[in-house]
Amino acid sequence: MKNQILELLRDSTDYVSGQELCEHFAVSRTAVWKAVEQLKKDGYIIEAVRNRGYRLVTAGNDVYNKAEIDASIDTQYIGRNSFFYNIIGSTNTEAKRLAEEGAVDGTVIVADRQTAGKGRRGRSWISPEGSNIYFSLLLKPDFNPSQAPMLTLVMALAVAEAIDSVIKDIGANQNKNDGTDKNTGTNSCKVKIKWPNDIVINGKKVCGILTEMSVERDYIQHVVIGTGINVKRQKFDAEFAEHASSVEEEIDSFVSRSRLIGLIMNAFEKHYEEFKKTGTLNSLKNEYEQYLVNINREVCVLDPKGEYTGIAQGINDNGELLVRTKDGKVLEVYAGEVSVRGIYGYV
Ligand code: BTN
Repeated sequence: MKNQILELLRDSTDYVSGQELCEHFAVSRTAVWKAVEQLKKDGYIIEAVRNRGYRLVTAGNDVYNKAEIDASIDTQYIGRNSFFYNIIGSTNTEAKRLAEEGAVDGTVIVADRQTAGKGRRGRSWISPEGSNIYFSLLLKPDFNPSQAPMLTLVMALAVAEAIDSVIKDIGANQNKNDGTDKNTGTNSCKVKIKWPNDIVINGKKVCGILTEMSVERDYIQHVVIGTGINVKRQKFDAEFAEHASSVEEEIDSFVSRSRLIGLIMNAFEKHYEEFKKTGTLNSLKNEYEQYLVNINREVCVLDPKGEYTGIAQGINDNGELLVRTKDGKVLEVYAGEVSVRGIYGYV
């Protein structure tokens, strides 16, 4: 009933009387009061006024649960079927399990904490509670397995765009409050993509993406795009401290995790629909390149066959990084085998 009351309050612009709630749910006033108290404990700010009733003022601090995430998603199918866990091993592993049980295309699995979070190259992804976003998006595409790695770039674009819109909102609010120009205000930081799929703000990594795929006889059974975003200010272990940060730290403002997931799902669906038309990044390339931190910069390509440096030119339709070497050749760098470093540091 708690969630239904929340829905009702969310849909109403005015107070909803206790009597109305009692009648609607056929319960006592005490039951309504208890449910409202529960919602307050969850972090919702609900005003109760004698003779008028209850009003949802705002989803207060970081309310992070299924109801809040669902309310933030405005899509046809991406994220419409959602699961939320306070604690889980890995959302990627859970997504695979649910896929085998027949979960629908676009299902999203979100957790507040992971005990066995997985990173790329067999590393683990440290996933404490109350701070970050950990989600896995399950897709059941009918294209060729060779095209699946491009979905990681589609997700990177969606995350960058979503964070960017949070930053722009802050700018707009500052304009409203103190008249500062949103382009020159205090939040002039830039969200970027470090090819192929790390999200960086002010040069520090705030998000990583791990895409896993299940293939049978050349058919994709499912793809799981796992995304971890450092959101709240936090202390990182010494080995990550130099290059890692969080969105709140870098943009110096409160960020709602639920809302950010909603923005990502909305952006992802838009870009994924575009991607599916051609099965390439052709129509997303320009937008992706606008976020690409490496563009026109000298990069070091850590190829197992031998490292080399060059200037990153952008990406091709398959999401490979185009690197112009000293002898003028433009090489296409495939993300699977190599990683790229900035010449003077992480980016
Ligand atoms: C990286 O190494 O940069 C990728 C990290 C991906 C972490 C996310 S958190 C949600 C999902 N579940 C996992 O176990 N890993 C991914």
